[in-house]
Amino acid sequence: MGDGGELAAEKHVRYIVTVEKKKDSFESLVMEHIRLNGAYWGLTTLDLLQKLHAVEADEVIQWIMSCYHPESGGFGGNVGHDAHVLYTLSAVQVLCLFDRLDALDVDKVADYIVGLQNEDGSFSGDIWGEVDTRFSYIAICALSLLHRLHKINVQKAVDYIVSCKNLDGGFGAMPGGESHAGQIFCCVGALAITGSLHHVDRDLLGWWLCERQCKEGGLNGRPEKLADVCYSWWVLSSLIMIDRVHWIDKDKLAKFILNCQDKENGGISDRPDNAVDIYHTYFGVAGLSLMEYPGVKPMDPAYALPLDVVNRIFLRKEH
Ligand code: FPP
Ligand code: ZN
Repeated sequence: MGDGGELAAEKHVRYIVTVEKKKDSFESLVMEHIRLNGAYWGLTTLDLLQKLHAVEADEVIQWIMSCYHPESGGFGGNVGHDAHVLYTLSAVQVLCLFDRLDALDVDKVADYIVGLQNEDGSFSGDIWGEVDTRFSYIAICALSLLHRLHKINVQKAVDYIVSCKNLDGGFGAMPGGESHAGQIFCCVGALAITGSLHHVDRDLLGWWLCERQCKEGGLNGRPEKLADVCYSWWVLSSLIMIDRVHWIDKDKLAKFILNCQDKENGGISDRPDNAVDIYHTYFGVAGLSLMEYPGVKPMDPAYALPLDVVNRIFLRKEH
């Protein structure tokens, strides 16, 4: 394996800014349906690299608000697309980055999310009803950022997440669903935000998570899978929340991430020598942030936002 060297921060900034602008490029075309998620990945990366000012804040806010559905209170993935919690959380997170939650009718957005809680405490992603622990996390994270967590039945939401816990200490997408590092982040994040981490067996889950480190240093999402840069975030954030991050070899993981950089044109790929994309660029930089890489702002492992942004929201609680 080659030597990834240092973080090519300037190149990554340039890559993100040009992806945002090149609306007719292939990557932008395939990303069309998830543009609001892409905006969150790209803009959070810029903020982590202390370059959020490289974009025009008013333009971003205006575009975000053009994805809003005032009748339902939810956001679509792009202008004219149906509302879904996946995009509603991204909209809330981006507004947090710019300190512009005032652009929202907060209670209207909160009520959209509240309306997606089911009788058993689980959450659907939209009016079509698909249920997944990802949506439990999204609802809890967004409502907490909006200071509206009290509007749902938190106890039932927590009980449902606990019902998705497996014998290996991990969590799945639904009761009985296979443990998966992405779902573990969602469940542990939701339990952390609601002050319910006592439901987690930290040693058992910590063991499962640290076994995700492959011999080349990268982390995978499940046993027998290949290492992938995005799992640097899903696994490390979970380990931090349960206080077991010292069970990972951080130097080897940082080298793996740095080896996935396109040092010429910017961007980070899922594994060395693959094509870069904005999702893996974000989770690579976010993973380095969790390992306190120099020049990268620290992140909050539960809210998936820079720590200073989260502190600004909770220290100034005027709502
Ligand atoms: C792996 O996806 C990741 C997950 C299943 C977790 C997704 C979590 C959310 C959408 C919640 C919001 C997240 C943040 C950071 C605010 P994958 O489809 O890549 O899995 P695969 O590796 O099995 O293909
Ligand atoms: Zn990935």
